[in-house]
Amino acid sequence: MTSGQTFLFPELYQEAATPKPVNVASIPQRSPFRYPGGKTWFVPTFRAWIGSQYPKPKVLVEPFAGGGIISLTALFEALVDRAVMVELDADVAAVWKTVVGGNAEWLARRIIEFDLTKESVIREISKTDVDVKERAFQTILKNRTFHGGILADGSGFLKYGENGKGITSRWYPATLARRFTDLKLIADRIEFRQEDGIEVIRRYSNQKDAVFFIDPPYTAGGKRAGRRLYRHCELDHERLFAVCEFIKGDFLMTYDNAEEVKAMAHSHGFQMRLIPMNNTHHATMEELVIGKDLSWMDQYPAVHEPKASYKATKAPASAPARKRKPRRTSRR
Ligand SMILES: C[S@@+](CC[C@H](N)C(=O)[O-])C[C@H]1O[C@@H](n2cnc3c(N)ncnc32)[C@H](O)[C@@H]1O
Repeated sequence: MTSGQTFLFPELYQEAATPKPVNVASIPQRSPFRYPGGKTWFVPTFRAWIGSQYPKPKVLVEPFAGGGIISLTALFEALVDRAVMVELDADVAAVWKTVVGGNAEWLARRIIEFDLTKESVIREISKTDVDVKERAFQTILKNRTFHGGILADGSGFLKYGENGKGITSRWYPATLARRFTDLKLIADRIEFRQEDGIEVIRRYSNQKDAVFFIDPPYTAGGKRAGRRLYRHCELDHERLFAVCEFIKGDFLMTYDNAEEVKAMAHSHGFQMRLIPMNNTHHATMEELVIGKDLSWMDQYPAVHEPKASYKATKAPASAPARKRKPRRTSRR
């Protein structure tokens, strides 16, 4: 809205304004991870999507769970009854297995009691032959002290961190411990699987009351970011799109705004919208949201599919003028 302008019905103009990136500080941070490519900024859109579903879905399947913010939010806010979280990375899986296995409190205590220095972290993460909960602790240490929270091979310690505090700049033991103790409240509603996400989608695709939030690693179309960020980054994207066609419930996918992805979505008959987000460098970018029916996202720009080739002919003078459809002013 132009400053200084007054409108007769300001609420209508607010709806029509271009959506702004979400301020992630306004979203409750439930995940103990600072996850590369994490979807905290997507939470309001996710809530709107679940809210548009009738009847209310029972199960959320998150086949590429990573830091799991979407599943955790869905459970804490009672948007679904249960969540199936899937992740291939053994380090990340160790954390979810520890939470689901009833050891979140143990992890919380381990975090509180740890005296973090570069030397103590190196000593801890060099230990081999550890059990799942110790591996979970190693993962949290790495995630909090490595540059960008990146666990993939080749990642290294934070050099300067926030305010030059270096390795300790992302280590908030009390906050982290509380996130783990809070997870006890929903742990029995999580089913965790360390396996291929596409296979799990296929298995649940017939279940009408299941919805899927799909946020795959992306390395197709010449984009190499996924390779640097995740240990498991190779994915058969075409197979993923093909499996999604069989989903009886609903799904949402998020992807880089890349031509190759748009072509795949188009060829499988899915809809697309662009949604603004701020990246880690605070630059505003656009991500692609893909789904079966995105009419609940009408305030976001549609992604135009290849133009149909047809000839425009002038309407005869006697033809009645076509009425324009009124613009929707509220979300479903
Ligand atoms: C873009 S990240 C997901 C981030 C997540 N949405 C969040 O908010 O933290 C993609 C994740 O998929 C995992 N992954 C890669 N290939 C997979 C596969 N075939 N099955 C399951 N997980 C996989 C990666 O390890 C990575 O954690």
